[in-house]
Amino acid sequence: MKGIILAGGSGSRLYPITKGTSKQLLSIYDKPMIYYSLSVLMLSEIKDILIISNPDNLPNFKKLFNDGSDLGLTISYKEQKNPDGIAQAFDLGKDFIDKDDVCLVLGDNIFYGKGFSGLLNSAKTNLKNNKATVFGYNVNNPSDFGIASFDENKNLVNIEEKPKSPKSNIAVVGLYFYPNNVIKIANKIQPSERGEYEISSVNQCYLDDKDLKIEILGRGFTWLDTGTHDSLLEASNFIKTVEKHSGYKVACLEEIAFKMKFIDLKKFKELTKPFGDSSYGKYLKSLVNEN
Ligand code: DAU
Repeated sequence: MKGIILAGGSGSRLYPITKGTSKQLLSIYDKPMIYYSLSVLMLSEIKDILIISNPDNLPNFKKLFNDGSDLGLTISYKEQKNPDGIAQAFDLGKDFIDKDDVCLVLGDNIFYGKGFSGLLNSAKTNLKNNKATVFGYNVNNPSDFGIASFDENKNLVNIEEKPKSPKSNIAVVGLYFYPNNVIKIANKIQPSERGEYEISSVNQCYLDDKDLKIEILGRGFTWLDTGTHDSLLEASNFIKTVEKHSGYKVACLEEIAFKMKFIDLKKFKELTKPFGDSSYGKYLKSLVNEN
């Protein structure tokens, strides 16, 4: 199975912060934003990963992760010349996906909650039956997202992108598991009124074919989209609070690579060195000592 992180876009909603850098490289408390989405792929046991971004910013992601081998991953990179829509990821990534299933995660989404690995496993099980999976989360600003609506028996009936009159408050978050036929399906969809190849159109196709499952991220779960100045600050504060109270870091990639057995203890020790005396480095060293 392959994983794609979509980390492009103009970031204009965050100007001037994103005039000189990529949104997904901004800090969320103690690490770059993209760490959070990469951690989701790693927790899904996906090791073969494609990062898509715009030509200006792609070199910075390469600087951050190189070929991924330090984390026991294989990371490759692809340019998206214009931000023409999330569903373009499958055309840009078709050679990389090849004959595999694929998980797409948006590089500006953050997930935190108990039972997440179980939900990721359910999505992988659905793929074995050729079903795609999306995840729903209750929001109070439904017009800003792809929104799922349900019939009286709680069956998913429709997914609408940024509806003016939302039929529910359940947003479809930026994490999607698709069978290999997503390449064909994404190729068929037409641009929306705002001129984008919408991921919601892809999801609607799966739904029409009765091949889409939705998993709801419940009350104990936190999903954050970091699209505005306020939500960026809120995300940093949230991660700071969780990390200070629990003593554990969220989305510490070296820790996940070690726990998932992508790297051994020797490699893990080696990885701690460049972080020096930063709090991140101290955390990694404490983990090495525990092991
Ligand atoms: O965050 C979840 C929401 O993400 C979903 O509920 C929506 O259905 C989905 O369309 C998307 O909505 P956004 O308004 O957040 O999309 P945005 O245009 O901000 O793009 C999301 C991320 O993907 C952002 O970090 C930029 C990146 N992106 C976006 C587009 C359109 C690209 O890299 N390339 C693109 O062409």
